[in-house]
Amino acid sequence: MLPDLQTAIPGPQSLALAKELREHESHNVTYIDPSWPVFWERAEGGNVWDADGNRFLDFTSAFGVAGLGHRNPEIVAALHTQADQLLHGMGDVHPTRLKGELCRELSRLTYERWEGASGKVVLSNSGFEAIETALKTARIATGKPKIIAFENAYHGLGYGSLLGTDLPKFRGPFEDQLADLTVRQPYGEFHPPSEAEAAEIGAVIIEPIQGRGGKRVPLPEFLRQWREWCDAHGALLIFDEIYTGFWRTGKLFACEWDGVVPDLICVGKALSGGFPISACVGRAEVMDTWPVSPGEALHTSTFLGHPVGCAMALKSIEILQRSELSESVAKASAMLEKKLRAFHHPAVREVRGRGLMWGMELDRHAGPLLGQLLGEGLIMLADGPEGNVLAFTPPFHISASEVDHVLERLAVLLSARA
Ligand SMILES: Cc1ncc(COP(=O)(O)O)c(C=O)c1O
Repeated sequence: MLPDLQTAIPGPQSLALAKELREHESHNVTYIDPSWPVFWERAEGGNVWDADGNRFLDFTSAFGVAGLGHRNPEIVAALHTQADQLLHGMGDVHPTRLKGELCRELSRLTYERWEGASGKVVLSNSGFEAIETALKTARIATGKPKIIAFENAYHGLGYGSLLGTDLPKFRGPFEDQLADLTVRQPYGEFHPPSEAEAAEIGAVIIEPIQGRGGKRVPLPEFLRQWREWCDAHGALLIFDEIYTGFWRTGKLFACEWDGVVPDLICVGKALSGGFPISACVGRAEVMDTWPVSPGEALHTSTFLGHPVGCAMALKSIEILQRSELSESVAKASAMLEKKLRAFHHPAVREVRGRGLMWGMELDRHAGPLLGQLLGEGLIMLADGPEGNVLAFTPPFHISASEVDHVLERLAVLLSARA
């Protein structure tokens, strides 16, 4: 549904809440200026209502989480059923039945579909934790400490995942605390490191399409070339599909566009449709290089395999496998691509992406534009090291009229600022 604004944006409630938040939350966390943010009160499908009763159109799927729509009714029902039974288990000590079911489903969706072989899983909470699991797995499996990661990569902000993340704004203050283990390569074209550097490299970590780095699609041979390089050099290939996974790019996983299978795949975001749960899935023989738990796991956390997260993830996986879903993703993807490619404006340098994950590179920083879009009831974000790539990652059921509306308003705002 299109936006319906009751107040100027941000409205009085949002402004008051922002003032209060400033007093109690670290001022590094929430960005606040006269045009931003609005405080979310409820959401449904592709719409969000704020504390002032304004209805917004969410073109971000809230960081790519709500591909199946905000508060998808089937996922909400799974949440309620589980919450009525058990709200917390003891992840690595006395687990729940659902944890085993989710691991089995993740194996089925990945290595069993790809190779007819089983995968094994380590669950965690945030995306960056799944990345750190993958990096630790590669260290254990190969015995080699270094990694190859790519320019403008984003793998999260934990100290371990920052080894992979490139964007200087995130690494800068902590650079002197980060181990010097990363060989940084350009993204998109295959540039292997020297043979001398290769000896110590245990992992190559790649986003099959870069998300926060600016919605960059690599050359078609890129993933395959790194696959071959890893095989030849005894390194593990890790695909970070935290953003691209679960149909975001028009395939269940983005690596399926190129038919390249990684040794480890990390997923999060859309896995549950709204609960913080993530997973690192690996070929069984790779995962089995971890030692068997002697009573104390080497890698776990309090909320590992959270029953509510597992219940929501299992329901969302069930929905994600329905044939009508893949058909509607295909239709929405084709519609979005056509309309974005037909959008011409002197401020637009390039439009790139795949499926329902697109970036529009502008000739300017997108910050002020995002505030203006919000003022029109449109929730959007921007990516890229220069902050000039307007992101289009709508829910899967986005309609042509909603896309038309966004592009129409965008054209007006871009021209007004030209
Ligand atoms: C590709 C990719 N990897 C990892 C992450 C980190 O996930 P989280 O924010 O859940 O830690 C993100 C988050 O945007 C991401 O886009």
